[in-house]
Amino acid sequence: MNSSISQRVLSGMRPTGQLHLGHLHGVLNNWIKLQHEYQCYFFVADWHALTTEYDNTCVIAQSVWDMLIDWLAVGINPGEANLFIQSRVPEHAELQLLLSMSTPLSWLERIPTYKDQQQKLQNKDLSTYGFLGYPLLQSADILIYKAGQVPVGEDQVAHVEFTRELARRFNHLYGREPDFEEKVREAIRKMGKKSAKLYKSLRKRYQEQGDEEVLTTAQVLIEDQQNINLGDKKRLLGYLEGQARTILPEPEALLTQTAKMPGLDGQKMSKSYHNTITLRESPEIVEKKIRTMPTDPARVRRTDPGEPEKCPVWAFHQIYSDDEKQTWVQNGCRNASIGCIDCKQPVIDSILAELAPIQERANTYIEEPESVRAILAEGCEQARTAARETLEEVRQVMGLMYR
Ligand code: TRP
Ligand code: SF4
Repeated sequence: MNSSISQRVLSGMRPTGQLHLGHLHGVLNNWIKLQHEYQCYFFVADWHALTTEYDNTCVIAQSVWDMLIDWLAVGINPGEANLFIQSRVPEHAELQLLLSMSTPLSWLERIPTYKDQQQKLQNKDLSTYGFLGYPLLQSADILIYKAGQVPVGEDQVAHVEFTRELARRFNHLYGREPDFEEKVREAIRKMGKKSAKLYKSLRKRYQEQGDEEVLTTAQVLIEDQQNINLGDKKRLLGYLEGQARTILPEPEALLTQTAKMPGLDGQKMSKSYHNTITLRESPEIVEKKIRTMPTDPARVRRTDPGEPEKCPVWAFHQIYSDDEKQTWVQNGCRNASIGCIDCKQPVIDSILAELAPIQERANTYIEEPESVRAILAEGCEQARTAARETLEEVRQVMGLMYR
């Protein structure tokens, strides 16, 4: 497969409230790493937010800009990654519509998040067309950039798997032109005798032995052909692997290997549990929130020993403290030589040190909204160019170019 394509990474985030330390440690730090290694597309998934917030859209409008500012403030670099808002690239919607024609309803209904979320958000009416179709929208988000890798949390792996199935079905349905074989034969002829012979023998060897190295050699051979156009190159690549043309490549889920950020109460940090520290939290509030965090209930008095494993503060030390400090906590807690207030202080210090530069950068962006708008305009433009290219191809293979 074309290497420039599989090097694309795409991920989105819903604008449904302020970002917190859970987003930073669970998602954004990973994005920051990825932006150096891949061509990254990161977008604000405002249409996705609408699938559950359609009756409360003002929260979305509020969160969109804050979210972008927070991304920039934590170190997502618009020089390296494309940042955009989903609804500013309406091509996503057209691809969703086109894909919807061949998407079996049962595939959507059996995605685990569909029933899970309906159950979890019982105060909302989620028996809507939009909500059922939201994984399909996600597939369109991914496929329109031909992203090779999609960083997601575990709960979203099923969506990427669904996207793979859709892509396979699409390629199967539309990847084979009626005169495919004939066009391939013509393309081989255009390669010239020597290359044509080599191509045929490589193809034979690959199909008989499945040797990946042979495949790579053949791919290079095809790429190197001077007088063969892109369409023919793709046909030759598809023919090589014994299948139809790949129009929409299958993405892979890139599981984020980060520690789960605990919340103030020891559960996962999440807005709905009211246990977060937001990226914009003032130092006073950070201090107050940590000071009032629950600890091991066994430590009623200062002289009662405790067990770090039973304490959410320990989970914070595991993220923020070095080995030496961690040993200090473990010993000090178990033999009651430190108090919980002592124990919490280094956590407070670490969080404040982490947030200070982020908040400083956020403030500069807040003061210069024009610069954020410019970054976004540029990102949307780049995204649209890439999206249009794919859509053009999709319309063509689906026979929608009436000329
Ligand atoms: N569905 C994701 C979420 O709820 C956000 C999202 C939308 C996304 N489109 C995406 C993630 C495409 C990865 C790729 O968190
Ligand atoms: Fe928790 Fe630290 Fe108190 Fe032990 S000493 S209970 S780890 S806060």
